[in-house]
Parts: sequence; C-alpha cells; structure tokens
Amino acid sequence: MNKLITAINELKKEKKALILAHYYQRSELQDIADFVGDSLALAQWASKTDADVIVMCGVHFMAETAKILNPSKTVLIPDMDAGCSLADSCPADKFEEFVNAHPDHTVISYVNTSAGVKAVTDIVVTSTNAKQIVDSLPKDEKIIFGPDYNLGNYINSITGRNMLLWNGACHVHEQFSVEKILALKKIYPNAIVLAHPECKNTLLSISDFVGSTSALLKYAQTSDCNQFIVATESGILHQMQKACPEKTFIPAPPNDSTCACNECNFMRLNTLEKLYLCLKNETPEVLVDEKIAVKAVKPIVRMLDISE
Ligand code: 13P
Ligand code: SF4
Repeated sequence: MNKLITAINELKKEKKALILAHYYQRSELQDIADFVGDSLALAQWASKTDADVIVMCGVHFMAETAKILNPSKTVLIPDMDAGCSLADSCPADKFEEFVNAHPDHTVISYVNTSAGVKAVTDIVVTSTNAKQIVDSLPKDEKIIFGPDYNLGNYINSITGRNMLLWNGACHVHEQFSVEKILALKKIYPNAIVLAHPECKNTLLSISDFVGSTSALLKYAQTSDCNQFIVATESGILHQMQKACPEKTFIPAPPNDSTCACNECNFMRLNTLEKLYLCLKNETPEVLVDEKIAVKAVKPIVRMLDISE
C-alpha cells in the first residue's frame, strides 16, 4: 500500500496532475487526493486548476463535468464503469422530449446527469446550491427540475415552488430504513439524524438536519451534539470522523441488512490500484462530444457564476 501511494505521488508530480475525490470514495482515495469535496466543490476546483491532467476519483458525470469545463485537458477516471443510477434514470433523449413538451419552462438539472441532459438544461444545480439557484429565479417562473424526484420535492417544500419533477432516484439514498433509524434513536436518544435530500420524504421528515454532503459535514463539526445517525453514502463518515474524532457517527441502516446498500457500488469501483494504473497509462480518459460540450458548458458556468 505504501509503495502504491509513493508511486501515485511520483506520477502525479511527473504528469502535473490534480487528483480530486468525492466524499463517497474509499478512505484511502480521499486521503491521497489533492482535494476532497462535494459535487459543487469538485466542479469549482476543476474550473480553476492549471494542472495538465485531472483525475476524478468519483463517478462518470463528475469527470464529464470536469472535461466540459476543461476541453483541452486530459481528464481521467480510475474506473470507466463508475456510473450513477440517478444519472441513468434520466436518458438524454427522453429528458429532451419532456423539455420540448414544456417549452415555457426553465430547465434546472441536478449535476448528477449526463452531458446530453446538461445540453438541454438552462441551469445546473447541486444539492449545495439548489435552493439558492431556485430562489434566484422570479417567483412566477415555470420550472422543470430533474432528475432527482426527492431533491426536487424537498426544494419545492422549502421554497414554496411547484416545479415539474422528473421521476428519477438514487438507489443508495432511497434504501435507508425509517423504521431502523427510529429503532436506533431509541438506543441513542440524543443522536441527531443527518440526511441528504436525495433520501425519500418519509426519511427527511424524521431527520433533524437535511443538507448536501458538505453541509452535513459542517453541521457535524459545528454542532454541540456528540452522536449522529448519518443517512447518506457512508464514505462521508471518513471525513466526519477525521474532523471530529471525539464524536460518534453511525451509518443509517438500509432496508436490506444483507447488503452494504449504504455504499454506492459505483463510487466504490475506484481503488488505489486503479488510480495508479490510470495515472501511469493515462487511461481510461473521459471524452465528451464537442457539439454536446458546447451546449452543456453554459448551464454549468451559469451555476458556477451564481455559486461564487
Ligand atoms: P453532493 O456531493 O452534492 O452532496 O451529492 C451527493 C451525491 O449523490 C453525489 O453523487
Ligand atoms: Fe449516483 Fe447515488 Fe452513487 Fe451518488 S450515491 S453517484 S447519486 S448512485
């Protein structure tokens, strides 16, 4: 392991590469990355780097976003199969039909989408800035929000909007068991329940705080409470535990106790060894069709401008 870490650091220097990692990555990938963050922070870092090569330890849409922002740079991903069930729940051709059927609507898409979906979008959002961006639009603006139904429904509830929602979902966040969380609350009555807005409404309604991964981390750091039940992908617990070693973080249990369903199987495809190989061989490389990229960059830049 130590040899691999040394080799990765040498290759990184030699190739002038930047390693970005999402909070849902394996701990060892978070630890070797130049920067660890949520979807918004990764896009922000990708938009301002002067590195020649960007390695995205995350899933495909994150690497695609980095490539769209940096068409002349090499963007690598340790495992090309690191996809996203939420992005897959929104095929670009079907979403375009939905958009065309509602021509008087502004189209907001979650960053967890393919470049093809972004190409027919007006503004991209992440879970960190979705409320801020929706609030920035006139109150009477008709809005389509896709693809995450739970996030869209949550944003409707906290903004008083009535956005038209695409019915997509993340297979990790939909899996958490309300009954098992309530049972845990009996064992840890002082624990605070933290939940990501991709979770179902029934879970959000029994949570104490709802926010993006970075918001959940910040809440855990600044709260006086010492125990947390965390309803999002369990990779975030690594940063929570690092930031607050004296506090207790309990991963929220999924409905099916026979699987590690609170881990994203796509995120976990990336490993230290695959990171080493991808830096060494400069493959798999993420490419985006130029005609699509030219359209997809606009709503991403619009998001970055609003989020500054
Ligand atoms: P954030 O990084 O915006 O919290 O989103 C979580 C997620 O599902 C990434 O795949
Ligand atoms: Fe996609 Fe869900 Fe995995 Fe995030 S956790 S990458 S939304 S499947």
